[in-house]
Amino acid sequence: MPSRFLDLVVTPAVAREQQRVYGIAHAPSGDASPEPLGPGEAEFIAARDSFYLASVTETGWPYVQHRGGPRGFLHVLDGSTLAFADLRGNRQLVTAGNVSADPRVALMLMDYPGRRRLKILGRATFSDASADPALAKALAPVGSRARVERIVRIAIEAWDWNCPQHITPRYTLDEVEALAAPLRERIAELERRLERRSST
Ligand SMILES: Cc1cc2nc3c(=O)[nH]c(=O)nc-3n(C[C@H](O)[C@H](O)[C@H](O)COP(=O)(O)O)c2cc1C
Repeated sequence: MPSRFLDLVVTPAVAREQQRVYGIAHAPSGDASPEPLGPGEAEFIAARDSFYLASVTETGWPYVQHRGGPRGFLHVLDGSTLAFADLRGNRQLVTAGNVSADPRVALMLMDYPGRRRLKILGRATFSDASADPALAKALAPVGSRARVERIVRIAIEAWDWNCPQHITPRYTLDEVEALAAPLRERIAELERRLERRSST
């Protein structure tokens, strides 16, 4: 497990709790540099069609929003930077407002069929799409006609894979269709055979 992630989340209160319950607490690694993504993490992110994005309100409340789009709508610009297009939406701008006061965000990316999940900590910035039309165009989700209002960049600080326990495999409609395709073909073939047999 990358130690940078635990360095960030094991605060003194968490360390005290680890010490109280297990008699040992995570020892800080002493390395304060951000942990870049590896090829496995980049590939995993490129295959996602949704993720959960948590930010912190000015009053200290955690806030989490679901983000969705076609596979790969969350782009890996480089090993240390993610980006996605923030479309015209519900006009609440909660995440954008939160991030303007405190850029720290957490992402949870789920692969339900593969029973894998990746957690990412980073610092997000929202900028107007008009400031970089080329990037806004490159990030616009394929097939979407919604207006890209803002570009969201996330500078990655740390990441961590969770264990697969308790992840129930779930499938999207597209995945179910792909799994069912050979079965449908087999049924069609058997129906054709039955028809030929009954007509002879
Ligand atoms: C018409 C409409 C389309 C939307 N399309 C998407 C979308 O494709 N993907 C997505 O993650 N959120 C979509 N949303 C949600 C909003 O963009 C939402 O404003 C955004 O997630 C910001 O939420 P926040 O204010 O909680 O941060 C849509 C909302 C509306 C009203």
